[in-house]
Amino acid sequence: MIDLDHAATTPLAAEALDAMWPWLSQRHANPASDHADGRRARQAVEQARGEVADLMGAAPADLVWTSGATESINLALKGALEFRGVRGAHLVSSRIEHKATLDTLRWLEAQGHRVTWLTPDREGRISADQVRAALRPDTALVSLMWVNNELGVINPIEALAPELRARGILFHVDAAQAAAWLPIDLRQVPVDLLSLSAHKLYGPKGIGALYVCRRPRARLSPQLHGGGQEQGMRSGTLPTHQIVGFGAAARAVAAQRSEGATRVAALRERLWRALSEALAGQLQRNGGGPVAPHILNVSFDGVDGEALRARLPGLAVSSGAACSSATREPSFVLRALGHADALADASLRLSLGRGTTAAEIDAAAAAVADAVRTLRNWAPA
Ligand SMILES: Cc1ncc(COP(=O)(O)O)c(C=O)c1O
Repeated sequence: MIDLDHAATTPLAAEALDAMWPWLSQRHANPASDHADGRRARQAVEQARGEVADLMGAAPADLVWTSGATESINLALKGALEFRGVRGAHLVSSRIEHKATLDTLRWLEAQGHRVTWLTPDREGRISADQVRAALRPDTALVSLMWVNNELGVINPIEALAPELRARGILFHVDAAQAAAWLPIDLRQVPVDLLSLSAHKLYGPKGIGALYVCRRPRARLSPQLHGGGQEQGMRSGTLPTHQIVGFGAAARAVAAQRSEGATRVAALRERLWRALSEALAGQLQRNGGGPVAPHILNVSFDGVDGEALRARLPGLAVSSGAACSSATREPSFVLRALGHADALADASLRLSLGRGTTAAEIDAAAAAVADAVRTLRNWAPA
């Protein structure tokens, strides 16, 4: 299989597996236990907290461990609004957020809050001006993703963060697709809450983090009650092995992020060029403006999407986000850009990783172009 589905999940880094193994095989102490083994586990947890914080330019005490970005997003949005205790607060977000954000905000709407849903332009961009125009005196929170998981489009987080901070509006950013590729430095970008997932940056699945700014304090009501771990914000025994794996993966990303991003962006362009040439321009690239290096989203007019995917058994690719693929509906992100259902369905999200090779790119481009040509010959558009 050629893996071009890294936006769905990344393989576990060797460094992460090495770091995790002792905590799975020999050391099982609860990091909250007050004995020597427990203290050792706690030390490992805190070292990893420092490694993940370093990747983001954050202080270790700003990070709360969670089970992944979905939980981080739920805690950030529900926790912030519950703490404020205001009914009917105004929120701003976009129609092409990850389902974890969309469905959490819909739940908050059902609780009486009001959301302004921003519509992206045909390239998938949300402008800073659009966000500014949506703000109202009673706006409590803005939630946007840093990088869109289907298109790779980068939102204007750096421009918005200082303005929202100055207006006292909480800013939550879903950085699940950004952390492995963009030089994020929260000392320069004053967001209040930021969600991360380890398995998008070569760490294990089932562990994530929420950055919670301490100055000024972003206050949250916990959504899980229990032993009071993680400064009372997220109860539950900490999974030491997952956490040290996340820390080691973050360290490995930090060591190669900018060089890896340049290499992967070049491979992504090679893929686009090869597809465009093989199909004589009869294809459409989705997503414009500044984009993260690892995602290429392409639509193939006149082709049945399901038949196309069925003709690519050697490629791990998706038609949209992995979670939306489960519903077998055309991508809501592409539909929000104005694509008809058939064109949205005849689209591939090809997402590269740091292990992707030029030979894999060339083979993938040939396989996709061949499948598209064959289907078009059978049923010309
Ligand atoms: C942008 C974005 N946000 C949130 C998530 C959810 O992450 P997790 O599955 O780790 O909870 C994902 C992963 O699919 C994502 O791509």
